[in-house]
Amino acid sequence: MTLDKQIDLTKLPKHIAIIMDGNGRWAKKRKLPRTIGHTNGVKTVKRIVELARKFNIQVLTLYAFSTENWQRPKDEVSAIMTLLKAYLKSELSNMIKNEISFRVIGDISKMSTAIQEELKTAIDKTKNLKGLVLNIALNYGARQEILMACKKLIDEGIKNPTEQDFADSLYTKGLPDPDLLIRTSGENRISNFLLWQIAYTELYITNVLWPDFKEEDFCKAIIDYQSRDRRFGGI
Ligand code: FPP
Repeated sequence: MTLDKQIDLTKLPKHIAIIMDGNGRWAKKRKLPRTIGHTNGVKTVKRIVELARKFNIQVLTLYAFSTENWQRPKDEVSAIMTLLKAYLKSELSNMIKNEISFRVIGDISKMSTAIQEELKTAIDKTKNLKGLVLNIALNYGARQEILMACKKLIDEGIKNPTEQDFADSLYTKGLPDPDLLIRTSGENRISNFLLWQIAYTELYITNVLWPDFKEEDFCKAIIDYQSRDRRFGGI
């Protein structure tokens, strides 16, 4: 791996968000059930969390389950939930050891009680840790999040909110906006992900399918990001 040597450690993105796409296609190419694609997708999650830590990235946000994903076949939804539960069980001690602070964005009240319990335990046991913030989007939809923020501001009687008031009403309160958004598997769309937060985010789309996304691909995305001239609307 020589690509990592090309990364400028003084210009790293603080927050990387990822739309992990292509698990189904990865499995289909191998004539395997889609769920095997997701199982291999979890292996990539573990690799990328490790890499994000290695590069001292502050926040990694992963889109694991959208508000629209409930429309998938029951078996597939249940396989994803089982993988999530297993991930939390097997990774919690690792998170604690590595100072990872685990957070969730999305409406988890719609998930099973067992998963809600696992999530709450992981959030609670890691909330004061100072390393990488691992932020998982679960039953997440940006439109739902924006509506939730509006309702919250109304409930609080804030009639003339500032951008900061609005940002503070989102699930991502307190986190910097993503600097880099990676989408795997070549689709050129945002799919209801972090619509407010990505106003000035650099987009990086790769054809690599999520289970095949390796260290080299992660480095390529960061190197590409570092070649961009970020002007935030200025000149
Ligand atoms: C996209 O591939 C993937 C998902 C919707 C699910 C991602 C879930 C995991 C990787 C497992 C659980 C997560 C964690 C954090 C343990 P797709 O199924 O849309 O692929 P396709 O577009 O090729 O069909």
